Amino acid sequence: MAIATGQALEILYTREQIARRVEELGSEISRDFRGESLVLVGVLKGAATFLADLARALTINATFDFVAVSSYGRGQRSSGAVKLIKDLDQPIEGKNVLLVEDILDSGLTLSYLRKLLLQQKPRSLRIATFLDKPSHRIEPLDADYVGFSVPNVFVVGYGMDYAEQYRNLPEIRILPPDHPE
Ligand code: IMP
Ligand code: MG
Repeated sequence: MAIATGQALEILYTREQIARRVEELGSEISRDFRGESLVLVGVLKGAATFLADLARALTINATFDFVAVSSYGRGQRSSGAVKLIKDLDQPIEGKNVLLVEDILDSGLTLSYLRKLLLQQKPRSLRIATFLDKPSHRIEPLDADYVGFSVPNVFVVGYGMDYAEQYRNLPEIRILPPDHPE
């Protein structure tokens, strides 16, 4: 059986483009939070790669935490319902929190998480997403830091998956709509 490596998929952003943009975001965030510290809250599993790179692009102190949600759906479209399956390990009350996501699509996941985290009364809560698909929004939501705004295509790599595949691709590639399950 042939194993799909993703090497044949069209590249949207190369490793170099990704690295450059992450550095820029790191500088911007470090400037905005100068003299303060930050709790980076990654949304598992997709945001793990971006979080790891972004954290190393920061020149301020940062700690890591992770949440996980399930969105009832494995294919190219989620069903809409979001459920928390892993909560924060540490309280965030009074802290500066940066919610870190791989891609902001319908906005359902981040709106849900934003409300949930705000209940814990952080000092501040901002959102960083590496990709933004603004044309797909169901819940109105803007991220504070966006790597790239992308057209309405399904992307994989740099942490992002299709049915758990392709997360480890170092580039961001486009999965065609007729891609087999
Ligand atoms: P939202 O709740 O629709 O904003 O979707 C957020 C989640 O859907 C992201 O964390 C991704 O896991 C997934 N997602 C949305 N678009 C894509 C895509 O193009 N490729 C891979 N995952 C995606
Ligand atoms: Mg995801």
